[in-house]
Amino acid sequence: MAKFFGNLHLVLVVGLIAAIAVMFGYAESIPVTVNSVFRWLHVFFGILWIGLLYYLNFVQVPTMPAIPAEQTGAINSHIAPKVLFFFRYGALFTVLTGLTVAHVSGYFFSPGSATNALAFNGEGAVNLIGLGMWLALIMAFNVWFIIWPAQKKILNIVPGASDEEKAKLRPRALAASRLNTLLSLPMLYCMVSANLGN
Ligand code: HEM
Repeated sequence: MAKFFGNLHLVLVVGLIAAIAVMFGYAESIPVTVNSVFRWLHVFFGILWIGLLYYLNFVQVPTMPAIPAEQTGAINSHIAPKVLFFFRYGALFTVLTGLTVAHVSGYFFSPGSATNALAFNGEGAVNLIGLGMWLALIMAFNVWFIIWPAQKKILNIVPGASDEEKAKLRPRALAASRLNTLLSLPMLYCMVSANLGN
């Protein structure tokens, strides 16, 4: 038992098999489609991304000032680069799976239809998911074009930034990360409520 739970990859494979068993076990009521599989993947990557955003904002950043200087290296050199890896690729795959779900749900670019959620050109809840997608796209932009470029210099993942440059980048990265935390609340409402409309 301890051996099984000590092996993360094996645990994930068994989780995946369990998910596939559920998918096909319930296929009569909810057919297994690109839409159903990508919704599931989308929420998985969304949790990975936003979970790490909340870890950074609720746990790591507020705790750093209380950590003795000689111990912060463990966080900055070992934990933070790993967090940022899963964080930015979580964001990327959330966007890609989300756009796929939007496409196969007919929220935009469907042949013969004028519906386009991103242009708020739809009926009812289409505009709600359009707003959610814009909020999440702004958040993903912040991750890839503000937070990650700043953090890779601050954490010396890419060496060479001066202390002065790092001091300038810190508040910029913090503001983008806090903005994402703020936007995540309305974004999540849009994501989970859009399919309650008609
Ligand atoms: C640019 C990024 C994103 C895009 C394009 C996107 C797109 C979508 C679309 C089109 C849906 C289906 C809505 C419906 O038919 O009801 C959806 C649902 C959902 N999204 Fe996103 N989303 C994005 C980011 C996120 C993020 C960051 C999360 C965080 C967890 C998230 C969580 C969810 C959840 C929980 C659902 C509900 C699934 C369901 O009820 O079937 N999304 N998203």
